[in-house]
Amino acid sequence: MQRIPLIAGNWKMHTSLAEARALAGAVVSACKGLTDREIMIAPPFTALATVAEVVRGSQVRLAAQNVCWEEQGAFTGEIAPSMLRELGCSMAIIGHSERRQIFGETDALINQRVAGAMRFGITPVLCFGETLSEREAGQTMAVLERQVRAGLSGINVVEPASMVLAYEPVWAIGTGKTASEEQAQEAHEFVRNLLLTMYEKSIAQQMRILYGGSVNSGNVDALLHQPDIDGALVGGASLKADSFERIIHFRQ
Ligand code: PGA
Repeated sequence: MQRIPLIAGNWKMHTSLAEARALAGAVVSACKGLTDREIMIAPPFTALATVAEVVRGSQVRLAAQNVCWEEQGAFTGEIAPSMLRELGCSMAIIGHSERRQIFGETDALINQRVAGAMRFGITPVLCFGETLSEREAGQTMAVLERQVRAGLSGINVVEPASMVLAYEPVWAIGTGKTASEEQAQEAHEFVRNLLLTMYEKSIAQQMRILYGGSVNSGNVDALLHQPDIDGALVGGASLKADSFERIIHFRQ
């Protein structure tokens, strides 16, 4: 059973339009000829249209960093899935720990976002992960189970490529502290087994689970070598063309 690795860049609240254009161009060049992996970039909303022009016709998939569940209406500050589709976005990061921690997004709200994205053919990249205090209190697996079950509540996955999960331990994001390959694999295997209780075997086995949290050019090979790590969600290192290029070219 083969899962195509996905390397995803999360640009967060970075890049001017000029920087976004240049970085996206570098990513397109770096991907040329690669057929055994998928690449995704998630610029800020303001740069989506600009980046869409650059990636058009390439294999780079465009993602938003969040998405609303409604088609239109009085939702100040939100972006509808159909608006993203119009820009050429086919994916959206949902439930990132910064959304959960800084902006108070709950499991229930995140579940609505996942459902809305799926309804409009946008592939969610559903993020989950424990904080340092939760890990130290021995609650890691309980937290992962709660977030994954709640995020996917009522979500029917028919096509395994239409749903991507991302394990991102909060203590590893932007801190330079990566989870060890063993810690990451342990969490991924736990989530894989959880998915097997929620979905048909062939679906659960084919859904991709990315790792995120201080992934860089030096640790990507070892992380992606793990059997249940199917790609990487990369923040800081995706903002530098040379380091992201090296990550894209990870060796399995
Ligand atoms: P980082 O961010 O690679 O800078 O740790 C990852 C993320 O938040 O998706």
